Amino acid sequence: MNTVIHAIPFARPEFDAAELRAVGEVLSSGWVTQGPAVARFEEMFAGRVGARYAVATSSCTTALHLALVLAGVQPGDEVICPSYSFIATANAILYAGATPVFADIERDTWNIDPEDASRRVSARTKAILPVHQVGLPADLDRLAHLEARGISIVEDAACGIGSTYRGRPIGSHSNLVCFSFHPRKTISTGEGGMLTTHDPAFAERARRLRSHGASVSALSRHEAKGIVFEEYRELGFNYRMSDVQAAIGIAQLPKLEGWLARRRAIADRYDAAFRPLREVQVPARPPYAEHAFQSYGLLLTSACHHDRNDLLHALADRGISCRRGIPPIHLEPLYLNRYGPASLPVTEEVASRSIFLPMYSSLAEADQERVIDAVTGLLSQST
Ligand SMILES: Cc1ncc(COP(=O)(O)O)c(C=O)c1O
Repeated sequence: MNTVIHAIPFARPEFDAAELRAVGEVLSSGWVTQGPAVARFEEMFAGRVGARYAVATSSCTTALHLALVLAGVQPGDEVICPSYSFIATANAILYAGATPVFADIERDTWNIDPEDASRRVSARTKAILPVHQVGLPADLDRLAHLEARGISIVEDAACGIGSTYRGRPIGSHSNLVCFSFHPRKTISTGEGGMLTTHDPAFAERARRLRSHGASVSALSRHEAKGIVFEEYRELGFNYRMSDVQAAIGIAQLPKLEGWLARRRAIADRYDAAFRPLREVQVPARPPYAEHAFQSYGLLLTSACHHDRNDLLHALADRGISCRRGIPPIHLEPLYLNRYGPASLPVTEEVASRSIFLPMYSSLAEADQERVIDAVTGLLSQST
């Protein structure tokens, strides 16, 4: 008898009738570009993350670019960021015309190492871009002293929705925080991003810059009594989110707490299974942060004699889709050819010895059991 083993995906966005209905309503309204749904999503999002303002964008990458422009980053400036991140983190720095300066990460949290970052500050450093990698907040307090030196903090919270730092949500701390709604994130609008701030001037300028620098938004012109002409005083971009995407976001937000609880329960179960194993290190849970588990990653310790990529292949053969750790940005040809090698030993070690397991809120218990059995079984095999 042939038993078909179904594939377990690595990640899965969660959509149901609520999103379908919301999109249908926007399509029937006839207003599909940035409009009333975007405004409503921004208001809801700002409330959820404890920011005064939220400005929706086409992606987290474009939000990061806007945030760096708002921070005054210009050609010739340097911005410090981790190399252990998705390439968009550093690309946004290049879009602003500045030079990324990569800092190493901590071996346990996989977030930027504040001491190493401080050592890399120069007279040209304009901003620092800590990443809340896979939903674990970076230690913001240990970076705060840089602000006194005129260095802006721009948080890459692409994976940070639902994370908390010292009891408050990510989004409530700094003046420039950027989120992603890519389908691999905890809530998704297909593509999309959000910039949050407490500063009304930043919010106003971000709203202009995301729409070609227009002094008046299309919605305000539409709602105005009489004719209103917009003006363009500085170079802006088309970084708008559409109302179709925002409608999906509005339907997703009320489900966030349930999804976070599920992700944390899944992480607890993985932890309980893997903590006793000498071959792996489970994700850090520092006392200052609550992890949102956008992803769940294991580090293969020196007691593990298996090659990480062999494990990935063996898991794929068993129908389990996993991912390698995050490839360091400084080793990508684009960056290596421009800036040459960098000394980032922890980044390179973590990147070559980490493995990310399936993590999404609808991961069934039986499927998680299959993942746990497969990983523990493979690790117990001799090489
Ligand atoms: C840390 C980090 N920064 C930035 C991004 C870019 O987000 P987006 O795809 O919304 O542009 C991602 C997306 O994967 C990310 O993980």
